[in-house]
Amino acid sequence: MKKVGVAVLGLGVVGGGTCKILLDRRARIREEYGVDVEIVAALDRVAQRAVDLGLNPNILAANIDEIALNPKVDIVVECMGGVEPAKSFMIRALEAGKSIVTSNKEMFAKSWPELERVAAKTGAGLYYEATTGGGMPIIRMMTQAMQANNVLEIKAIINGTTNYILTRMTEEGADYADVLKDAQALGFAEANPVADVEGYDSGYKLSILSSLAFNKRLPVDLIYREGITKITAKDIAIGKEMGFIVKLLAIAKQKDGKIEVRVHPVFLPKHHPLASVNGAFNAVFVVGDAVGDIMLYGQGAGALPTGSAIVSDIVFCARQETHARYGEMNDVVDAGQIIADFESEYYLRLNVRDVSGVIADIANVFKKHHVSISRMRQDEGGEIVPIVFFTHKSHEQAMSAAIEEIRKLHNVVSVENVIRVER
Ligand code: HSE
Repeated sequence: MKKVGVAVLGLGVVGGGTCKILLDRRARIREEYGVDVEIVAALDRVAQRAVDLGLNPNILAANIDEIALNPKVDIVVECMGGVEPAKSFMIRALEAGKSIVTSNKEMFAKSWPELERVAAKTGAGLYYEATTGGGMPIIRMMTQAMQANNVLEIKAIINGTTNYILTRMTEEGADYADVLKDAQALGFAEANPVADVEGYDSGYKLSILSSLAFNKRLPVDLIYREGITKITAKDIAIGKEMGFIVKLLAIAKQKDGKIEVRVHPVFLPKHHPLASVNGAFNAVFVVGDAVGDIMLYGQGAGALPTGSAIVSDIVFCARQETHARYGEMNDVVDAGQIIADFESEYYLRLNVRDVSGVIADIANVFKKHHVSISRMRQDEGGEIVPIVFFTHKSHEQAMSAAIEEIRKLHNVVSVENVIRVER
């Protein structure tokens, strides 16, 4: 029986979940997969965490060097989070020939090529199922099951925090700030929510997913990004009346050798499969040219779901003779290959003075920029009234130019929001 020694860095929520699964399932993994996985080392400042997990506190290492030099360690599992020191620790372990399993999306998305170069030198494996979509096996699907396909499109809800906030705003008609505060109190959002609510977290995950989908490395900084902080209860209510649900989507599309990658809130038709993914759940919708539509749905975070992805990587890694080098993507996407002027339908909400000619003025601006209106709605009110436009597919730059001109029109009081529509 092949014996495999694992070192776990970080015994918090994810590291703890991983240890729990490894301890509970050791015998089953031995029987079903023919490898005996033992936790032989751990690194955490709080020794009590090891004790609480039922680990022998003697396996706690004083530093990463002790783990890198420990001949019993075959796989180092990184559950620390943050870019440093996690990245340096990964490099140190890879240099020592240890394979890596990580759940750290930010560190991994930003350092993948560097880690891969070091891993390739020693032949060590690099596994990252838990970086994207928590318990959903989306990385394995992309690397092991899409050989027959050109991936045409990915649409994903890959941030549970924002999906939880938007779901509650939709269900309760509540405002963003109130739901955020409550989500923080309940532990669904971090005290510093920026990485989640501004779409950075989804961006790291989309960088990883789209690199695998298109077999070209897609740097994080080429991804267009907008968060959910400007979404209001009013936009959600109007969307609902018009048959749409607001979601923060990570979108990647490949067209004629060019790529669109973006993270932003969208109006999705309420019958779209992603529209009913609620609460902290994640889902990834992939379109392949052979297979058609696929959707994975599951918990994108949490001790056991993320631990499930990590343990799957550990067992997979343990059973390989040699490790595949998916990250060796010499073909790196540059800005010239990105479609910045993508096409989309748009929702535009304005406050205008209810006077003769205001709609004509706005329509003229749209006409000048070749933006075609598909639906329009004006509510009765006082002197200042809300007005909403939906457009047919238009170019992003044309729409932005039109909005800037509309903003300056004398009878337009404010541009309240712009949301893209995906179908
Ligand atoms: N902050 C992430 C989320 C956790 O809200 O989905 C898992 O990456």
